[in-house]
Amino acid sequence: MLKPNVNYRNLKDSYLFFGISKKVEAYRKAHPDLPLYRLGIGDVSRPLCDAAIQAMHDAVEDQSRAETFHGYVPECGIPEYRKAVAGYYACRGVQLDPEEVFVSSGASDELGDILDLFDKSADALVTQPAYPAYVDASIMAGRKVSFLTAGPDNDFLPLPGKDTQADLLYLCSPNNPTGAVYSREQLQQWVDFANSRGAVILFDAAYEAFIEGDLPHSIFEIPGAETCAIEICSLSKTAGFTGTRLGYTVIPKALERDGMNLNAMWVRNRTTKTNGISYILQKGGIAVFTDEGLRQIRENIQYYKRNARVLMAALDKAGIRYWGGKNAPYIWMACPEGVKSWDFFDRLLNEIQIIGTPGEGFGACGEGFFRLSSFGDAKDTEIAAERLQELLLRK
Ligand code: MLT
Repeated sequence: MLKPNVNYRNLKDSYLFFGISKKVEAYRKAHPDLPLYRLGIGDVSRPLCDAAIQAMHDAVEDQSRAETFHGYVPECGIPEYRKAVAGYYACRGVQLDPEEVFVSSGASDELGDILDLFDKSADALVTQPAYPAYVDASIMAGRKVSFLTAGPDNDFLPLPGKDTQADLLYLCSPNNPTGAVYSREQLQQWVDFANSRGAVILFDAAYEAFIEGDLPHSIFEIPGAETCAIEICSLSKTAGFTGTRLGYTVIPKALERDGMNLNAMWVRNRTTKTNGISYILQKGGIAVFTDEGLRQIRENIQYYKRNARVLMAALDKAGIRYWGGKNAPYIWMACPEGVKSWDFFDRLLNEIQIIGTPGEGFGACGEGFFRLSSFGDAKDTEIAAERLQELLLRK
């Protein structure tokens, strides 16, 4: 008899955000007249920037005329898109060959797909609390997953110790959910660790555009990363493409294991398993990386940063400890004394109609914490902040 992938038995019943959306839907049906304040999943609320919209309109026009029509596009990315991403890195002093950049349909898709490059025996190390897809995708692929715990004691930035073991290592900076950002010196420790063990870092840079000040946006700002890291990024949070789906993955040509070149393997993988990403979307992506596009997306990022400040001010007034919110769109708050994160979730939903994300959903060590997203509408965020402050101050 055909055997299904039994690794699915090792997963929780439902994916974190899918489970939350079902709870919220049930609440909405039961209380159709109550407004909901969405500070849960990191989904953007600002429309796409004009530069991207115009480029995508033009690309649709291209598809309407025989002279400009495009059928299949190159599987690894339109050369202009790969060049545009490489140009974005060059602005920060990271020199990439455009052939080291691969187009993708977004970071979450890619974080699972990339596991194809590694033997099943490669164990994964995840710093936790963590974006749950790292763990779930690894479990689905039948990998052993171990955890390195982050907490207030290490500012949510764990570092390798002498007993740390890893083949594949997931790092996310700025971190989802905690908002913590590794410094250059700290990332150097991880790069040195990976190079010394032959491990590969899967670096999730989805929130890099929120960094303020002199902190690394990319693992490739760290010397030695080109022989031990793959960077996965997306335009979802950078440019509001959550519903549009576009991203990129950087695999250096210098990255080899056991005589096999991972860049060449990914070319083999993509040319087999995909027929590329829509011409129209890639044209939108190219426009994002123009000077004007970058100026426009920064305005949206500032909008979300204002929301984060409003939420942080409410927590300050309520005397609640929190992390993040400055270099990341997420605020990672401590739940009120003794309250479990899912109980806090229920309380916020039922009493003040705020949807957040329970820390426990990001791993056991997230218990006692709660994540607020700053990606909502500004007016709604102001109302939510007032309600939250009032609830937290209630005796
Ligand atoms: C999150 O809320 O953690 C993210 O929006 C989820 C995602 O990017 O898939």
